[in-house]
Amino acid sequence: MNSSHKIVIYGAYGYTGKLILEEAIRKGYRPTIAGRNPKKTGELAKKYDLEYAVFSIEQHQELKKVLTDALMIINCAGPFVYTAEKIISACLATQTHYLDITGEWQVFEWIRKQDEAARKANIMLLPGTGFDVVPSDCLASYAKSHMEDATHLEMGFIGVGQMSRGTASTMVENLDSGGMIRQDGILKEVENAQYSRVKYIQGKARNFASIPWGDISTAWFSTGIPNIVVYTGMPPRRMSMLKLINKLKWLFRKSLIKSFLKRYIDKNVEGPDQLTRKTEKSHLWAEVRNKDGKFFEANLITPESYYLSAITTVLVAEKILLGQWKAGFQTPSTVYGSDLIMEVEGVERSIVSN
Ligand SMILES: NC(=O)c1ccc[n+]([C@@H]2O[C@H](COP(=O)([O-])OP(=O)(O)OC[C@H]3O[C@@H](n4cnc5c(N)ncnc54)[C@H](OP(=O)(O)O)[C@@H]3O)[C@@H](O)[C@H]2O)c1
Repeated sequence: MNSSHKIVIYGAYGYTGKLILEEAIRKGYRPTIAGRNPKKTGELAKKYDLEYAVFSIEQHQELKKVLTDALMIINCAGPFVYTAEKIISACLATQTHYLDITGEWQVFEWIRKQDEAARKANIMLLPGTGFDVVPSDCLASYAKSHMEDATHLEMGFIGVGQMSRGTASTMVENLDSGGMIRQDGILKEVENAQYSRVKYIQGKARNFASIPWGDISTAWFSTGIPNIVVYTGMPPRRMSMLKLINKLKWLFRKSLIKSFLKRYIDKNVEGPDQLTRKTEKSHLWAEVRNKDGKFFEANLITPESYYLSAITTVLVAEKILLGQWKAGFQTPSTVYGSDLIMEVEGVERSIVSN
């Protein structure tokens, strides 16, 4: 491991990349920024007077060159199913810690398999430093700490419901793969929105539907609870649409349809604005139960999800700068504990009494 303090942010001119960059600068860091678009990368570097590099994910030598003297890279270029593998390969070669903001379970599953290689290279692979999965992973571990013999974990989140371009594109990318849960320790394909729940959030009944969120991978790794379902708040109309998509999965497999939807997203989708990011909240819940039917539930209230993603990613980066990291594949709670999320201003955690 080199002794540099250099932080590289790849995909820095994206919606979330920029939020992370701005949070890092606010805290006094001077990251090197990188991306594949010369104009956008150059303009952003000029705005903040930062060092920068322009290369595509396929330019392995360029990537290694930038990472040679770097302590860590924060990969903000998603869908991560296309970028994580190439960047991690360069991280292993250059002994650079890897962070990203993925929420894709397939990506977590693949990165977990790089654990041994990462241990040998003495680097940490910590995907999911954003809203998915820092608060949910911490909450799952917290719930587990109250019930060591838990066999089932159900968890959900709800926020303002506004997505960025990248999140919407990543969802389109995964529309044809349906839903996913973990059953008896094994990933199991289910339909989109196959399971639904009604939960009271701040006294108001809200509908939740199951989604293939990253925690079906990370919460299993963090807690060892073998049965996991993750939900998101979803109005009934959207739930019906997802159920329709189950019948039309073959259509979404066609690259033409995906390209059409992504073009639509590029033109029409913008992430939450600054006021929304600063004022709105996200709510998370996690329930665990054991084979005797004992039950425990805890909730979290956090800042808005994109704002939180920037805060938690920079929080983790700061810890690495302080030498606080573990080699190999990690989740936020395996390396920093379930109280990591409590370090973020404005986060409230509560136990739900029955
Ligand atoms: N887990 C979480 O809580 C969380 C939170 C926020 C975002 N995300 C995820 O993070 C990703 C980015 O979101 P965003 O809102 O920032 O999206 P965005 O505004 O579209 O930005 C994406 C960035 O990644 C770059 N990029 C994408 N694919 C690339 C590739 N194959 N090679 C090189 N660069 C590539 C883009 O460059 P170009 O413009 O040149 O394509 C852009 O700089 C999405 O997958 C989203 O789901 C997750």
